[in-house]
Amino acid sequence: MIRIPAFILIMILLSPVTLLGSIGYLLKLFAFNRSKGISGTAYEPYLGRMLMHDTGVRNDMAGRKLISTLPAMNAFIWMLLAGPTILAARVCGYLPSGLRYPAPRRAGVSAVLSLRTEMFDTTLNESLESVEQVVILGAGWDTRAYALPQNSNHRVFEVDAPATQKAKRAALSKAGIDSSHVTFVATDFNQQPWLETLQAHGFDPAIPTYILWEGVTMYLDQEAVADSLHSLTTLAEGSVIAFDFFSEELVKAKGPFFLIGRLITLSFGLIYGEHIIWGFPMRIKAGESMVEYLSKQGLALSQFEVLGSISKGKAPVYGFALAEKKPRKP
Ligand SMILES: C[S@@+](CC[C@H](N)C(=O)[O-])C[C@H]1O[C@@H](n2cnc3c(N)ncnc32)[C@H](O)[C@@H]1O
Repeated sequence: MIRIPAFILIMILLSPVTLLGSIGYLLKLFAFNRSKGISGTAYEPYLGRMLMHDTGVRNDMAGRKLISTLPAMNAFIWMLLAGPTILAARVCGYLPSGLRYPAPRRAGVSAVLSLRTEMFDTTLNESLESVEQVVILGAGWDTRAYALPQNSNHRVFEVDAPATQKAKRAALSKAGIDSSHVTFVATDFNQQPWLETLQAHGFDPAIPTYILWEGVTMYLDQEAVADSLHSLTTLAEGSVIAFDFFSEELVKAKGPFFLIGRLITLSFGLIYGEHIIWGFPMRIKAGESMVEYLSKQGLALSQFEVLGSISKGKAPVYGFALAEKKPRKP
């Protein structure tokens, strides 16, 4: 029982170190990242995964190598930023449930990064046997393409905005990570249907495909989200798309989210210059609404989970889903 207070004490005592790390990260972010139009929000899930790697709960060797080569990070800043948590976890043999992987379901919203990472890991791994192509939309600093099983013959595509993708390719190369099996496709989801661009780069819609769309829908307009989902209907049977989303109530700062919603959208805008604009309405029967929404795009819902309160008058904060092409009627 002493482990929890000891963990908290170490975190408090070393908080000036974490603060220095945060300042270093923000300075690099503004000097070398934002100024070049490279995504800053891509660091949020990535740094969460790196914490999982360095606390020993989830392996991500390729991601770890990128720490030294991504524009807004380096080994020293990472040590300041994450060192206190890693040290506290090692000394105390304890991790708060929100930082564990897999995280217990009861951790709820506090474990959003871990639970979402687990959902995308699991659906990808489970799909590998039945699909031949993997597409990572809005890949950011995701490294799943570099951790596929050795015998994998999957065709792999990473799609992202041009500046972010250019920075990733440079970081991969500097880190000595082999990316020769990955086809990189640069596009803007809000401007152009990504499927067209993908096909121009050798993507075959007739081959069953797993599409990983993590942490992206919130930055897109509603047409781009709907069109992207609808794209799946033109792909081979057995194709699936895994995606996550904020609740519209949070994004629009409605009701109980009046303050927190504003805080999140404002801070993302100020720090990263990226705007959270799309959310899925979840106050009333989120699951049924999602089935109906996906059906309009020609898809069927095969997995759905929300985080946050679903009691009366409240709305979940966040959710993730796996969708597939609606099976053809016999
Ligand atoms: C929060 S990051 C998520 C990165 C990665 N999927 C992950 O979870 O680690 C959002 C990603 O979406 C990309 N993105 C956002 N809006 C985009 C757009 N309109 N067109 C292309 N990419 C976009 C960003 O460049 C960034 O890589």
